[in-house]
Amino acid sequence: MAFYLWFFFLILQILNHSAICTTLKTNFYSETCPKAEVIVKEVMKKAMRKEARSIASVMRLQFHDCFVNGCDASLLLDDTPNMLGEKLALSNIDSLRSYDVVDEVKEALEKACPGVVSCADLLVIAARDAVVLSGGPYWEVKLGRLDSLTASQEDSNKIMPSPRSNATYLIDLFSRFNLSVQDLVALSGSHSIGKGRCFSIVFRLYNQSGSGRPDPAIEPSFREKLDKLCPLGGDGNVTGDLDATPEIFDNQYFKDLVNGRGFLNSDQTLFTYPITREYVRVFSINQESFFKAFAQGMIKMGDLQSGRPGEIRRNCRVVNSHRPRVEVLFETSKRKE
Ligand code: HEM
Repeated sequence: MAFYLWFFFLILQILNHSAICTTLKTNFYSETCPKAEVIVKEVMKKAMRKEARSIASVMRLQFHDCFVNGCDASLLLDDTPNMLGEKLALSNIDSLRSYDVVDEVKEALEKACPGVVSCADLLVIAARDAVVLSGGPYWEVKLGRLDSLTASQEDSNKIMPSPRSNATYLIDLFSRFNLSVQDLVALSGSHSIGKGRCFSIVFRLYNQSGSGRPDPAIEPSFREKLDKLCPLGGDGNVTGDLDATPEIFDNQYFKDLVNGRGFLNSDQTLFTYPITREYVRVFSINQESFFKAFAQGMIKMGDLQSGRPGEIRRNCRVVNSHRPRVEVLFETSKRKE
């Protein structure tokens, strides 16, 4: 009996372990859901036609998911009475958007191949497609991730960087995720598409580092424009473009930084600091080198895994219901009585 118990737990451990050490690979769904990537792209295209910004908003989700306990779609879980999820974390509340696009993609995937494609993989494919659909580079995505069984608002609050961050802080943060200085600068180039809120920049317009003055790195005519958009005491939810071509994925973002026209403090700081400045300069004159470094960075970020067990969620907002084993056994034995 003891031997059988030991053997049972050994098998359990092996199964568990295989779930934990997921090996990611390209063409992961070629047998089980060959159309997966085509389906994601079609829904993203539709979303873009409806609202150009929405695909930038979806792309951002990969970053906010992968940095908090790996790329496991923990970000997408709604709060429950027993779990405060990540959607209402400091960097996400009133800021992350287009969860409805993710729902639409998932619905289309479930229709074609029920229970096969994880929400975590969905986010990684959709982020790549957002870049391609906006004119940026294509890269092969590695797939095979599992969706988490839980989420942590606390972890998100501890990890996700504020728009006030400076380059030294960001270099250190990214290095903890095995991402280099080049990765940091290239990945920040994601701000080539999309928008940010006045809430994220008022401090740098009126009280940079508690000085009561604006950030001196902002070019004066750009500052006037931002002052008009975001007056002191105005509506923090008004949005401005993150670069001069917010619907096109290009190297305009880096040209803007060189000219003191970065929107966020965390953007402009990349040109102020000597260690990151050279990368900004190179990317501003060589779009191809930006595209190459960006794709590399996204692949590295997509490799982050928590090592925790997971599942393929049917609905990205909730974990699949697992009825506890004991309860099932109990009910079965009751029925037999
Ligand atoms: C380097 C550290 C980063 C910081 C501090 C940062 C911060 C921010 C902030 C504050 C916003 C505007 C949010 C708002 O005002 O509501 C934003 C927008 C955005 N971020 Fe980042 N971000 C960083 C890196 C990244 C990365 C690595 C990606 C993706 C690879 C990304 C993708 C985006 C996109 C696409 C938007 C626009 C979203 C939209 O229009 O809805 N960011 N980011």
